[in-house]
Amino acid sequence: MSHLSNVWFSVTPLQVASGHGCWVTTTDGEEYLDFAAGIAVNSTGHAHPHVAKAIADQAQRFIHAQVNVFKHDLLEPLAAKLAEITPAGIDTFFYANSGAEITEAAVKLAKQATKRPHVVVFSGSFHGRTHLAMAMTTSKTGYRAGHAPLPAGIFVAPYPDPLAADQDAEVAEALYGFDHLLKSMTAPEETAAVILEPVLGEGGYIPAPPAFIQGIVERCKQHGILFIADEVQSGFGRTGKMFAVDHYGIEPDIICMAKGIASGFPFAALGTRRELDDKWPTGSHGGTYGGNSMGCAAALATIEIMSDPVFLENVNARGEQLQAGIRELQREHDVITQVRGLGLMVGTEFSDAARVAAITKHCFEEGRLILMNAGTYGRTLRWMPPLVVTEGEIDLALAAFGAALKATA
Ligand SMILES: Cc1ncc(COP(=O)(O)O)c(C=O)c1O
Repeated sequence: MSHLSNVWFSVTPLQVASGHGCWVTTTDGEEYLDFAAGIAVNSTGHAHPHVAKAIADQAQRFIHAQVNVFKHDLLEPLAAKLAEITPAGIDTFFYANSGAEITEAAVKLAKQATKRPHVVVFSGSFHGRTHLAMAMTTSKTGYRAGHAPLPAGIFVAPYPDPLAADQDAEVAEALYGFDHLLKSMTAPEETAAVILEPVLGEGGYIPAPPAFIQGIVERCKQHGILFIADEVQSGFGRTGKMFAVDHYGIEPDIICMAKGIASGFPFAALGTRRELDDKWPTGSHGGTYGGNSMGCAAALATIEIMSDPVFLENVNARGEQLQAGIRELQREHDVITQVRGLGLMVGTEFSDAARVAAITKHCFEEGRLILMNAGTYGRTLRWMPPLVVTEGEIDLALAAFGAALKATA
């Protein structure tokens, strides 16, 4: 009998004993190619020696130096590094442990800084599973059902449908929907922030059309609404640039980081401008473990690894290889309706969710390849391997995927 909670859904039944790079080894000694990467977390691969050493060394010095009680000697160096790699203007950082905590923190800061109560999110969004983050999450009813009442003050604007035939019209319509929301439900002077994933994650790996994201940023500027980029999943090299917003040339007021930031050690960071942070009353937010010293060590080691230009070059080259391989297969399998993505955040859209489930199962059972789905309708197969994935590993995954497409036809 298991003593573990029933609440976790399971992607695989595997009992894992160890991992290295893109591979995990089960307690039975079997190896699997892990293209789930801890749900886009194990950015530098499993147990990267540099990260593992940084954590182990830090554990010998101290495991937890509570941030309200002491300032330890990695807090400032990490903030300085983050200031170098985050978009222009972001120079001040707050730390927490998970994505949901950091999106919540972003909203709390936005409310304090603007003295406005409301937040706009987009259809298909995922910002976490705590109550406020859940209220901001619209990618699937399953995350919300049974948890009402959810916090109020969250308004949902449309996100452009990537499958719409006329993308310009779709973007215009979505921007119209945003304007309409500000006229009909939450006036600008009541709206503290807009929170947006530059590449929709759980909602289906959908890069925001540039005209859409730029249109939203312009409107935020015009109305004094803060623009929060939720880069929890898309940040730290996942899209081939350090942050997805770097593809769009936009400067968020607040940026949310977690997942890949510390290669799997639970760690999250909020970045903002000093003048906004100055409006966050001291003591109005915090948390016991925020800025944990081992998390800081893991994040510093991760950023060091990613700072080698070869790292992001690999993400881009492997992303191109992956998309090209999937498109090649798409020619023979019209059940694939779209291939999209940036870097190693790649979505393959199917006309049928059952086929996605069958392919994922076949890849797992026959190809020893771990994949996950995404999207409101479960019709997106998402590719999020560790960012250190090699050319040979992408070939292996494509071969398993090709075999699964044939076997399930
Ligand atoms: C964009 C985005 N924001 C927030 C979260 C929540 O992160 P966590 O699960 O660490 O709370 C996720 C998790 O998938 C995410 O993809």
